[in-house]
Amino acid sequence: MTIAIEIGLTASGNPAEFDLEELLSTRLLVQGNSGSGKSHLLRRLLEQSAPWVQQVVVDPEGDFTSLADRFGHLVVDAADHTEAALQVVAERVRRHRVSVVLNLEHVEVEAQLRLAAAFLGGLFDVDRDAWNPVMVVVDEAQLFAPAAASETSDEARRAALGAMTNLMCRGRKRGLAGVIATQRLAKLAKNVAAEASNFMMGRTFLDIDMARAADLLGMERRQAEMFRDLERGQFMALGPSISRRPLRVRVGLVETGSRSAGPKLVPPPSQASAAEARELILAAPEPEALRLPRRAPRAPAPDILAQLAQARPAAQAAEPVAPASPAEQAEHRRRLRAVLAKVLMEPDAPFRPASVLYQDFLVRCRIEEVGGPAIDIPAFRRLLTTARAGIAAEVAEGSEWAQAVSRAESLPDDVQGVFLLLARAALERQPCPSDATLARAYGSRSIGRARRLLTYMEEQGALVVRAERGGKRSVVLVGLAWETAPGDPNGPEEMGPVT
Ligand SMILES: Nc1ncnc2c1ncn2[C@@H]1O[C@H](COP(=O)(O)OP(=O)(O)O)[C@@H](O)[C@H]1O
Ligand SMILES: [Mg+2]
Repeated sequence: MTIAIEIGLTASGNPAEFDLEELLSTRLLVQGNSGSGKSHLLRRLLEQSAPWVQQVVVDPEGDFTSLADRFGHLVVDAADHTEAALQVVAERVRRHRVSVVLNLEHVEVEAQLRLAAAFLGGLFDVDRDAWNPVMVVVDEAQLFAPAAASETSDEARRAALGAMTNLMCRGRKRGLAGVIATQRLAKLAKNVAAEASNFMMGRTFLDIDMARAADLLGMERRQAEMFRDLERGQFMALGPSISRRPLRVRVGLVETGSRSAGPKLVPPPSQASAAEARELILAAPEPEALRLPRRAPRAPAPDILAQLAQARPAAQAAEPVAPASPAEQAEHRRRLRAVLAKVLMEPDAPFRPASVLYQDFLVRCRIEEVGGPAIDIPAFRRLLTTARAGIAAEVAEGSEWAQAVSRAESLPDDVQGVFLLLARAALERQPCPSDATLARAYGSRSIGRARRLLTYMEEQGALVVRAERGGKRSVVLVGLAWETAPGDPNGPEEMGPVT
């Protein structure tokens, strides 16, 4: 079943819709300057999807508390709780599948970080039997996942950043679907931003934010200039759950009120007598709520790995690199592939995002003392793609394979591995891989997703799928004229050899 969430209208007046299931598995990043309409957009998304999915809103400004009246969200005021208590609250939220708004408006900045970290940690750490899908919306995400050190203590910042990293990088398996909004892309930690596959880009003024937005969307920086001209409530949408091409969307109306409409003059109530006012304002404070003992949220693994990976001795980094001979280069590539093969041997590896595998890879490279030029994320993704497609080293070096790789590069990053898996089968005249095998190469267990991928690649003109006798199919790669043997789409999952 596809659940379409109408977020607004396109320029031509057609509904612009999110595929909710896809959105939950591929996450969303919203960016736009203050006043561009991000919170409104989040509210629209929350309202439209409320009947379909459990929701958690991390709300630094108390903007979303009105969802309670119309949709029954429970408002949890962070100021009433300790970190330990919020962690317990979060676990119960998952277990009982209650939609909540965590209102952080009444606590100061540093406590916001600690409390949000504890709450997100509680959502994340819950036992496997409570891994139900939940949309986790974080407004002003740069507060919780800042790109650089700020005035808050390092400890609070690290805790929040770790929790956000877990949410965006490792949450999917646990049913957590991050939807985050930020006014300054350049202020948001890169690894957190990078894990969203869907984007809604609103009005943006600063060059640095525009450049980052262009990078994330895979656009020319000049093209990104159009973000300057967007009006309030207009966004460029892109991603597997909404549109494969940048699509201009005007966000629709909302049912519940926001409090961010700017200050309005409100006459003070005149009835209160002086005595009433004294009673209202100066009555003895309520006894302090029961406080649970504190427990520090667990530090997330990827963060530690990243630190380890970066902790290379300064002398080594500064060493001038002599140009390597072709033999040395080949040897270096062989060692990198060997390290990657070990990373991919972990049972969970096919389903972990590239960014997490990358950290793992860097650490292992250090442990095994693989020197040589540093591997950046794009280079790592290429290596990963080839490894996941199960390409033998000799083939991978050959010129025929280079053609397939260059063809693959016209496809989105995450689709390339699947394309190359098909290319390998075609090159070796093997049967066309089953849906289960394709899904695994994509890092998914969803057969439906595998089929959609094939259709997508066909629409992109990368390949042609042919029906064969006996319910089998074969695939022809356009431009290469390689063809697989007929294969059973419903066959078992086969793992290609990882070299
Ligand atoms: N699509 C829209 N349609 C109508 N009003 C909107 C729309 N988007 C934003 N607004 C209004 O513009 C103002 C600023 O929007 P808001 O979502 O708070 O911006 P941001 O969160 O980006 O700072 C609010 O008063 C909001 O109600
Ligand atoms: Mg806002």
